[in-house]
Amino acid sequence: MLIRPATHSDAEGMSLVLKQLVAAQKRSAPSDIGFIQERYLDNPALIKCMVAVNDDGTISGFQVLLLATENNIYNVTFGWGVIGTHISPAAARLGIGKAMFAKTQENARAFGLTHIDASIGKGNSAGLAYYDAMGFKTYRTSDAIVSKVFRIL
Ligand SMILES: CC(C)(COP(=O)(O)OP(=O)(O)OC[C@H]1O[C@@H](n2cnc3c(N)ncnc32)[C@H](O)[C@@H]1OP(=O)(O)O)[C@@H](O)C(=O)NCCC(=O)NCCS
Repeated sequence: MLIRPATHSDAEGMSLVLKQLVAAQKRSAPSDIGFIQERYLDNPALIKCMVAVNDDGTISGFQVLLLATENNIYNVTFGWGVIGTHISPAAARLGIGKAMFAKTQENARAFGLTHIDASIGKGNSAGLAYYDAMGFKTYRTSDAIVSKVFRIL
């Protein structure tokens, strides 16, 4: 297992991870390659996207770190980071998410971020537990979303 920065040629493998999450009913948002390119890889607000690559070259997950720009769609404070984590259900609970966040923290520090937001569906117990375990703390809740923040010291 290798964790490295994503490149454009990873778009198909990243899309497959999202499709696997949709098939496992862990995701309902888009999962196509166009979405991966627009929302992540070609997003001007992208700070860094890391992918977890298996020995056979397939991708088992990715973690994206975006900059919250003015009027961002996540309604996150301008200048904070915004994180998203997507691990294939076949590779869940193997420590990949934890290993990815160690890298993402380095990337966030190198960029000069002070805070990272994670917005999670209220019913997503795995997502909530994961970000709690990574040291995120709840700072805002709405009907459907729990927003957690990680402070970079
Ligand atoms: C949530 C998710 C990112 C976790 O990634 P992962 O690689 O499985 O997590 P890890 O194996 O690194 O787990 C690290 C810690 O997080 C917590 N955790 C992770 N998954 C958990 C679960 N299903 N239930 C309870 N705690 C969990 C645990 O404390 C775990 O440590 P432990 O295994 O030593 O107890 C992954 O399951 C996923 O991609 N889910 C679908 C998409 C999603 O919900 N993304 C996040 C919210 S947007």
